[in-house]
Amino acid sequence: MTSLLRHPVYTRWLHWSVASFFVLALLSGFAIYTPWLYRLLTPLFGGGALTRLLHPWFSSGFVVCFALQVLNWIQPMTWNDDDTRWMRRIREYVRNTETVEPEYVDFFNAGQKLYFWAIVASAILFLLSGIPMWFPKTFGRTTVAIGYVAHDVAAVVMLVGFIIHIYEGTAAQPGTFQSMTRGFVEARWAWTHHPAWYRRVTGRDSPADHDAARKATLG
Ligand code: HEM
Repeated sequence: MTSLLRHPVYTRWLHWSVASFFVLALLSGFAIYTPWLYRLLTPLFGGGALTRLLHPWFSSGFVVCFALQVLNWIQPMTWNDDDTRWMRRIREYVRNTETVEPEYVDFFNAGQKLYFWAIVASAILFLLSGIPMWFPKTFGRTTVAIGYVAHDVAAVVMLVGFIIHIYEGTAAQPGTFQSMTRGFVEARWAWTHHPAWYRRVTGRDSPADHDAARKATLG
């Protein structure tokens, strides 16, 4: 067995819908955030007025698609004791000093779960702060002013997470990106990054496969 199905079509469709709405919301949000970016980015959306009109709709698309992804991923994203254990070795993960993940890492590692839950929290904050900003007359000045601050906090969390996520999903972990395009990953990728998931879906022992592959590589 050389490749394994990691993300079925529905998951990939949701992921790229979330990503598309997110990027549109991000660009239109930046456009109305500062005068400098306003000049640079509003032409993309047909001018300033249209950018302001479209931003809450792009954001609503993001929230709806991500809510569906939450329902889709709630089970593999649930935090457990192994995740707390993983967090203690996050330095090794970030430095990429260990090429093989601990045997208890299942479908998602704790870093991926952390990103997921950070998006859940930020999306709720975006929604709670964005609605008063969308309908300022209904909510009044103070609520709208608090909304602006909360919206910026959520945006910073999302932006930092997004940059790390793109890096980890592409350059830092080769073989990962194709899981969200073709849906499949190499068996070697699976036992290297998610040994417990590999064991569950193949019935094979990943440390044994790892040793065999290492011996074969060393000759
Ligand atoms: C546009 C560039 C993006 C790229 C290249 C990208 C890439 C990927 C890849 C390859 C995976 C699968 C990881 C795995 O199977 O282990 C993934 C998962 C995921 N993506 Fe993205 N993604 C992007 C944008 C986004 C955006 C905008 C969001 C939400 C704001 C997002 C949220 C997630 C989440 C929550 C997961 C599951 C947890 C994780 O793997 O971190 N992605 N992404």
